[in-house]
Amino acid sequence: MTSPLETKRIGFIGCGAMARALAGGLLASGVPATRMGGTDIDSAQRQDFEASLGIATGSDNARLVAESDVLVLCVKPGVVLKVLEGLGGQPDLQRPLWISIAAGIRIAALESGLPPGARIIRTMPNTPALVGAGASVLCPNAAAGDADAGVAEALFSAVGSTWRAPSEDLMDPVTGLSGSGPAYVFLFLEGLAEAGVRQGLPPNAALALALQTTFGAAKLALEDGRSPADLRAQVSSPGGTTLAGLAQLDLADLKGALNRAVEAAAARSRELSDDS
Ligand SMILES: NC(=O)c1ccc[n+]([C@@H]2O[C@H](COP(=O)([O-])OP(=O)(O)OC[C@H]3O[C@@H](n4cnc5c(N)ncnc54)[C@H](OP(=O)(O)O)[C@@H]3O)[C@@H](O)[C@H]2O)c1
Repeated sequence: MTSPLETKRIGFIGCGAMARALAGGLLASGVPATRMGGTDIDSAQRQDFEASLGIATGSDNARLVAESDVLVLCVKPGVVLKVLEGLGGQPDLQRPLWISIAAGIRIAALESGLPPGARIIRTMPNTPALVGAGASVLCPNAAAGDADAGVAEALFSAVGSTWRAPSEDLMDPVTGLSGSGPAYVFLFLEGLAEAGVRQGLPPNAALALALQTTFGAAKLALEDGRSPADLRAQVSSPGGTTLAGLAQLDLADLKGALNRAVEAAAARSRELSDDS
């Protein structure tokens, strides 16, 4: 089966961490460096992008637009609309597919910076994309069709899993869950390792055990097919060690705390989007 990216020329505006992760994933999945390009205002970032990926870069955003079928906006959220403003008046802006990875920049804001009818996909990737294990959520605008969403899905599949959100309203809860989620897991890892040290384990061993246990549990849950609740029940024998530990997490209302965390992060995402 041919990939939706088969003939597409892909341009990255902003050659920072996220652009490098995406371009690296695409190279690994077979998209040749010659079909990709990047721009950045920072010459050190351009050099780094070129040296690590072998993809040509420049500083002329308008030229990159003219040479690309898909533009991935990989600049900080506060810069996205300025980049579009800077392109204002270019003849070619309606032709390419525009993909934004900027947190909190709504589709309407992107549309206001592009000509009517421009095809846009708003996305929310997360930091594990940097190691090819991201969870990215995509939301097309009304002008983008199924083929456009397929292009974006193929692009983000190169750095992990993808899910198409049926409505843009869900991008705030997504930000609260998978966008901010890696930090919740890092806190969990810190706490688990510190608890091991308090019980007498050497710090390095405690951290290694916490990391592998978290990774292994997520891998098992992904591959096994049973729900997390079923997997938990399977390792919780009556009177056993795991139930004794879980009882403390229940007392601390871990699920309630996670609920409040996702709710607060989603609310903050809504506020930031309203300000943009
Ligand atoms: N990192 C993540 O895990 C993650 C997760 C989800 C979403 N995102 C989104 O991804 C986007 C990029 O994040 P990042 O961490 O990759 O940022 P980054 O490392 O700061 O990269 C952005 C690059 O764009 C450059 N730039 C600024 N203005 C430009 C312009 N007008 N034209 C071309 N390049 C320009 C910046 O240069 P200067 O530094 O000189 O300004 C910088 O080198 C953000 O919008 C963020 O919300 C990131």
